[in-house]
Amino acid sequence: MTKRGIARTFFTMCVFFCETLFFPRFSECSSTSVLLFSGCAQQRYTPNSPYESNLDSLLTSLVNSATYSSYNNFTVVGSTQQDAVSGLYQCRGDLAMPDCAACVARAVTRAGDICRGLCGGAVQLDGCFVKYDNMTFLGVEDKTVVLKKCGPSVGYNPDAMGSRDAVLAGLAAAGGNFRVGGSGGVRGMAQCTGDLSYGECQDCLAEAISRLKGDCGTADYGDMFLGKCYARYSTGGAHDESKAHGESGHGGVKTFAIIIGSLAGVAILIIFLAFMTKICGRQGK
Ligand SMILES: *[C@@H]1O[C@H](CO)[C@@H](O)[C@H](O)[C@H]1NC(C)=O
Ligand SMILES: *[C@@H]1O[C@H](CO)[C@@H](O)[C@H](O)[C@H]1NC(C)=O
Repeated sequence: MTKRGIARTFFTMCVFFCETLFFPRFSECSSTSVLLFSGCAQQRYTPNSPYESNLDSLLTSLVNSATYSSYNNFTVVGSTQQDAVSGLYQCRGDLAMPDCAACVARAVTRAGDICRGLCGGAVQLDGCFVKYDNMTFLGVEDKTVVLKKCGPSVGYNPDAMGSRDAVLAGLAAAGGNFRVGGSGGVRGMAQCTGDLSYGECQDCLAEAISRLKGDCGTADYGDMFLGKCYARYSTGGAHDESKAHGESGHGGVKTFAIIIGSLAGVAILIIFLAFMTKICGRQGK
């Protein structure tokens, strides 16, 4: 390898090393955009109608608003009341603003693809929820089960199940729209959309949590998404798909970066020694 080749390789290694070490959020981007569920209204709108243009401006408002707020709702009325359309988005409570905006933009794009030409749509990604329709749904509690996912059963493990139940009880009792909890390796998360009142949120989460316990039994992890709220838990087993992948992938990349970085260090040392030997050799003559 020529010196220039070595220098170029070294530079590439450095860039890679720095990026993976200092910008680990890159690996998290993908997990917030995992599609959890989607649904569409059955009624179609007429192409190029006032409804379509109202819907377009509604979706634009949702995407713009997500750059500064983790929840918002909009209603676009236009010239005639019958073409009115409403929509809301809700980001996961722990997402930073730029991630929220990116997530809502992705969700709106997905909804546009999945529900093309239809009056209403709803998309839940791992990091955010978006829904729009011309039926009234803003501020209306909705406890319909839209997604239920239970991990493999861990068998009856009283400790794990005790921690799981304690975490879920904590989530049910906590206040606020976004709730997280953890105990003995079990992590839990719950959230309502921002249009529910405190009482409606409590009621919706009580339902989600009791269904989670009843339906997922002794499962490793469980996800219960109702129309306007969700509750999730993970016992930290190997089956928490999105999280486990994100973390192990990230860890793997980091280890790889450290190895590459060390190799680069050795390479620069060799170049330096070769350089010194040359200089010393010249001086010796
Ligand atoms: C929604 O829009 C569709 C198509 O324009 C229309 O047929 C339907 O009646 C509307 N629904 C409501 C609740 O306004
Ligand atoms: C919708 O947004 C408006 C303006 O931001 C707000 O005042 C209202 O409370 C919201 N409605 C619901 C149901 O969230």
